[in-house]
This record gives sequence, structure tokens and C-alpha cells, in this order.
Amino acid sequence: MKFGRNMPCWCGSGKKYKLCHEAFDKKIRHYEILGHEVPDHEILKTREDVEMIKRSAAINMACLDAVGEAIRVGMTTQEIDDIVYNTTTKMGGIPAPLNYENFPKSVCTSVNSQVCHGIPSDKVILKDGDIVNVDCSTILDGYFSDSSRMFLIGDVSEDRKRLVRVVKECVQKGLEASQPWGFLGDMAQAVHEHAEANGYSVVREIGGHGVGFEFHEDPWVSYVANAGEEMLIVPGMMFTIEPMVNMGRPDIYTDEDNGWEVYTEDGKPSAQWEIQIYITEDGPEVICW
Ligand code: MF3
Ligand code: CO
Repeated sequence: MKFGRNMPCWCGSGKKYKLCHEAFDKKIRHYEILGHEVPDHEILKTREDVEMIKRSAAINMACLDAVGEAIRVGMTTQEIDDIVYNTTTKMGGIPAPLNYENFPKSVCTSVNSQVCHGIPSDKVILKDGDIVNVDCSTILDGYFSDSSRMFLIGDVSEDRKRLVRVVKECVQKGLEASQPWGFLGDMAQAVHEHAEANGYSVVREIGGHGVGFEFHEDPWVSYVANAGEEMLIVPGMMFTIEPMVNMGRPDIYTDEDNGWEVYTEDGKPSAQWEIQIYITEDGPEVICW
């Protein structure tokens, strides 16, 4: 193409394209020709975008901190929802799950064999020995953040504690494997190898996602893929690492009554941690946890 090399770069830097992202685009094109999936410009975030997303993330993390302070035996998952709604709105944000594709609450609370998308309820009372994932997502000034943490309720068995610890390690290993000019499959392999080495299985059907401009944007992120597979990772990408790891079999089903809550088929526990990361030229930066 003859057009554009002296025009302002698509990234908004104000610099001429040939002095800004031309070499970057050529590098991506090289991988595309080799047959790899590559990202569109639209999903890439600038440093200014990241500053806005971090303000959203500050609210998200404040919610999870507040839940961590309050969570205890005898509490209902509706009370967790109240904490998240109140913390978010007081800080000027909007809970992203609320009314998202008819999701009725402000946060997901997934207990024991619930894999994800648990709906807070005043009928679900946390009991001694439960493990709970609280998955929080925030919108601030149109920018999205998303992270989740596990909480141990009272006296939790050693095997459940081990599951929770190992899944956190899986996320850490995935983070370290999320490098610019590598592939999402490199990250996925790091995640599932560690889960499998510990005798666990990784959910295949539900993955992570790009995030920041939208709640869920490209790419869809697998945690069962292998090194060299899936989308090329480039500086400017932002996505979640949020594997769902089961103590038993990987198979899951969705509650048909509400269309949301996902459970393990074998009834064994499942755990998940979620972080939101940004890819810089030097490696990954954790934006929300
Ligand atoms: N927060 C979840 C995620 O990590 C998505 C939940 S969708 C909802 O991607 F509607 F249930 F909130
Ligand atoms: Co997510």
C-alpha cells in the first residue's frame, strides 16, 4: 500500500505511522502469514487507556478487599453482593455483572462444586469448610476491570486448601508465561501442566477474555491449549488469566433454571482465581487481582 506511511499512526501517538507502529504491524503480519491468529488494533490499549482501567481496577480490588474483611461462617452470599454493590457505587463505579445478559446480581459467588457464575442469594449460607470464589467486575467511566479471589470459610480440609493454593500457583505460572511475541497457548500450557501435575483437571468450555474497553472482548482465552497455539501475544494486549480447575473430572453443566450457575458434573470442588494483565514490551503487568 502507498497510503498512510506519513499519516498519523493508528495508535493516536500523533507520530507518523512509519516512525511509530509500521514495524510492529509488519511483525504481526509475519505471524499472520505463518498462519497464527493475531490481534486487531482495536483491542490494543495505550498507556493512557491503562491509567483509566487502573482506576476501575482500584474499585474492583477494594470490593474484594472488603469482602475478604467481612466473609465468615454464617454469612449469606447476598451479603457479599451487598458489600460489592455498596463499595462499587460509593466509589463512583458500576458493577459490571448487574443486568449483564440478564445476570441479576452485582458479583458472582461460586461455592464448592460451583465452577463459576454463582448467583448471590439470601438462601445460600456459607458454612464451615466451604471454599468460595468471589468474581468481581467494575465499570468506571466506560473502562472495565475484572478479577476474582478464593476465600476459605472456617476450618477447610487439607485437600480443598491444596486445590485453592495450586490454582493460585497456576495463575502465577500463566502470568510468567504471558510474554510479548509469545502465544496465549504458552500461558495455557503453563496453567494446565501445573494443574494436571497436581492431579486436577482444567475446565475446557469456559475461558478468559480480553477486557478493558468491554467486559468481554477478543481474544477468547483457553487454559487447555498448548504452547505455540492460539493468538499471538503483542504489547498493548489486555486479558484475564482465570482458569477454573476441578479436583475431579473437567466436565461441567449449567443450571437450566437460571441459565447461569455452572457446576462440576461429578460434584467435586472447583476453584478459580482471576487476574487482569497488560502486556508491555518488557513482559506482563498485573492490572487487577
Ligand atoms: N466475571 C466473570 C468473568 O470473569 C464474568 C461473569 S458474567 C456475569 O469473566 F454476568 F455473570 F457476571
Ligand atoms: Co473474567
